Amino acid sequence: MSLSIFTDHSLKNYNSFGFDYRAEYFSVINSIDDLIELVAWVDVRQCSLSVIGEGSNLLIQGDVDGMVAINALKGKAFINQDNDECLFEIAAGENWHDSVYSSVQENLYGIENLALIPGSAGAAPVQNIGAYGVEIKDTLKEVQVFHRDSRTLSWVAAEECHFSYRESRFKSEWKNSHIITAIRLVLTKRVTPQLGYFQENAFASKQPSPLQVFEKVSSIRRSKLPDPKQLGNAGSFFKNPIISDEIHTKLKKVYPNLVSYAQGNCWKLAAGWLIDRAGWKGRSFEGVGVYEKQALVLVNYSEVKADNLVALQNLIIADIKEKFGVELEREPILFG
Ligand code: EPU
Repeated sequence: MSLSIFTDHSLKNYNSFGFDYRAEYFSVINSIDDLIELVAWVDVRQCSLSVIGEGSNLLIQGDVDGMVAINALKGKAFINQDNDECLFEIAAGENWHDSVYSSVQENLYGIENLALIPGSAGAAPVQNIGAYGVEIKDTLKEVQVFHRDSRTLSWVAAEECHFSYRESRFKSEWKNSHIITAIRLVLTKRVTPQLGYFQENAFASKQPSPLQVFEKVSSIRRSKLPDPKQLGNAGSFFKNPIISDEIHTKLKKVYPNLVSYAQGNCWKLAAGWLIDRAGWKGRSFEGVGVYEKQALVLVNYSEVKADNLVALQNLIIADIKEKFGVELEREPILFG
C-alpha cells in the first residue's frame, strides 16, 4: 500500500479562508493508482469521500466525517492539432494560474483572461470559472473523470457537463460520482484576444499578445482582489444575481446608477455594487469582513472557525434582500 492515510487531520492549510476544522481521514492523491486504492479503502469502510483541489472556493464550516483527499495529480502537455490549434492537457492537481502562464508562454490564445484565478486546473470546470468576458467552457473540450462506481477513467465531452454561469453537473448530480483527473482545452495560435471587457486604450496594440493580456489581467486582479496567502478569502463570495426585466426596470428607476448587464431576456446585476451601495464595503465584523477594495469578497482576518463569516454572509443576504428585493446566493461550495 503506497497511499498514506492520516486520521483526525487539520484542514487549515487546505482552504483559502484558513478555517481550522478537522477531517476524520485525510490523504493526498499523487497518481491514478493512489485514487484506485483510496476508493477501495473508502468503500470497504463505507465512509464518505470528498476530493478537493487547492480549497480556494470552499467554505468549510465544521469537522468533516469520512475521507478528505487532496487531488495532487500532476502533468501538462501541449498536443499540436493542426496549424492553428493546440490541445492543452492538464492534470487536475496542477495550479490553474501556472497552467495559464504555460499557455501564454507558448503564445496560445484562449485562457489568458483567466490569469490569477486561484485554485487547481481540476477545480476550474466544477464552477465554470470565469473572468473578463471569458469562461473555461469557451475552450474546454473534455474532462477526464474517474467514475467511483466502476472505478474506471473516461473522457466526458464539455457539452455533457451542462455548464452555465458558475455551475456544472460536477457541482450537483456528479458531485459524489465523478472525480476529475484531467482537463483538455483547445487553444489557438490565431490572434484572437478577447478584449470586450477592457477599456479602449487598455492595450498599446489593438492585438495584444496572450502574455500582454495575461499581464494586464494579473495587474487588475492584484489591485482589487486580496491574495489568499496573505488574507483569507475565496474570491467572489456571492454570485452576480440574475433578475427579470420587470424587476430590473423597477430597480433602475430607483437606482439609475445600478450596474447591470443584459442576459437574453434577463439582467445580471453586479452584486459587488449592491453590497457596496448598501454600505458594507470595508466593514469588519468580529474577525471577518468585507474587503475594502471589492465588496464581493469576504475576508477572514483572524478567525479560526467559520461561524462569524457565516453570520456576516447572512446579514448581507438579509440586508440586500431588504434594500433591493434581490436574493444573493453564495458562490463557494459548502463543506463540513
Ligand atoms: N462594483 C462596485 N463596488 C464594489 C465592487 C464592484 O461598485 O465593491 C461594481 C464595479 O464598479 C463594476 C461592477 O460592480 O461596475 C462589477 O465589478 P467587477 O468588474 O469587479 O466584477 P464582479 O462582478 O465584482 C466578476 C466575477 C469575478 C471576476 C470579475 C471580472 C462573479 C461572482 N465574480 O466580479 O470572479 O474576476 O467579474 O470578470 O461573477 C470569482 O468568481 O471568484 C471572481 C473573482
